[in-house]
Amino acid sequence: MAEIALLQGKRIILGVCGSIAVYKAVDLASKLTQAGAQVDVIMTEAAQRFVRPLTFQAVSGRPVYTDMWRAENSGGLPSHIAHIGLAEGADLLMIAPATANTLAKLAGGFADDLLSVTALAAGCPLLVAPAMDGGMVEHPAVIDNLDALRRRGAHLIEPESGRLASGLTGGGRLPETSTLIGHIRRVLGLDGELSGHKLVVTAGGTREALDPVRYLSNRSSGKQGFAIAQAGIDAGADVILISAAEARPPLVGATRLAVDSAQSMMEAVLAQVADSSALIMAAAVADYRPRSVSEQKIKKADDSLTLPLERNPDILMAVKAQREKTGYPMIVVGFAAESENLVENASGKLQDKGLDLLVANDISASDAGFAVDTNRVVVLDMDGGLHKIELTSKAAIGAYIIERVGGLLA
Ligand code: C5P
Repeated sequence: MAEIALLQGKRIILGVCGSIAVYKAVDLASKLTQAGAQVDVIMTEAAQRFVRPLTFQAVSGRPVYTDMWRAENSGGLPSHIAHIGLAEGADLLMIAPATANTLAKLAGGFADDLLSVTALAAGCPLLVAPAMDGGMVEHPAVIDNLDALRRRGAHLIEPESGRLASGLTGGGRLPETSTLIGHIRRVLGLDGELSGHKLVVTAGGTREALDPVRYLSNRSSGKQGFAIAQAGIDAGADVILISAAEARPPLVGATRLAVDSAQSMMEAVLAQVADSSALIMAAAVADYRPRSVSEQKIKKADDSLTLPLERNPDILMAVKAQREKTGYPMIVVGFAAESENLVENASGKLQDKGLDLLVANDISASDAGFAVDTNRVVVLDMDGGLHKIELTSKAAIGAYIIERVGGLLA
């Protein structure tokens, strides 16, 4: 698990209840620790029937808290009273898995074990991931308790549907670690520097239909666009992700609009930027599309086949025209994939397309650009500024772009 800038030095209290889903909470504690968070685990008595505290201690590298009566359980905390020490200065209280019993205690304000008493003492955001079997999650008592928590500002993670430990199928599964971490990032980012800003990000390579089964496309994976969208969520933005990258996993916290052709991407972009702070066009848009789309599958016939193509509209040019009339989006960032004369070609594009920033990557290197997790770019701005970023993760480049957009919006 790579480090996550947003999680560096963050103090997360992970409350763990008695459910078979505790095995996922072990993975969560491990991944959060690897990502740079300080994770203090509180286990209920029932949770300890499923796994030992030692397991969480081993993955978090921190003492595990189990008992509100133990005098020696406050080591390493800001106060010698365990629930006060745990609550003080915490950035997030996450309860995963949260059982029906603990939800009832939280809703009722009970304080009869270390987790429930800490929840009353903690002033930080509360993120709750319920997990239970056999349709319990749909019981009116559970629904009422969840509603009460929601009304008080708690953030809830919808349980997933699927196979339950009992063998039954239904709702109540604890989502996988990557989804849980996505929710943690969204909640921790809420007050970030892009809070209140709508950010539109495009990702992936457009697909231009030839017939009902075939299309023309390119090698863009959407990874850089998704990394930018994630960095936007980390900074508190309201992110609209217009994606032609079908295969990318869901991104928690973004509203994802699936598109395929350049035309459909353009329609979505023009509608979404009308009230947005910034547009980041990371998508690889096809320059040409087949002049006509065959209704039937094109059959093999001759030795060669000629496909007439026509130009696609340039989305950024259409955005430029709309922005001149309306003032929105306030900031526009474009990309340029170049295989020669990188800076020269890129600065021409920055001028022509009326961009505030242009991120240029050299696609001739195999460790940067399409499909890989790393990239190497040059960021050009309107004032002639040029910032080179040597080979690094797409996440780090996403964070840099978001930081620059934040600077321009400030
Ligand atoms: O002109 P070029 O395709 O190199 O420019 C790349 C930038 O323009 C990218 O930000 C890409 O998303 C955008 N683009 C566009 N509409 C097109 C082609 C590219 O907005 N038809």
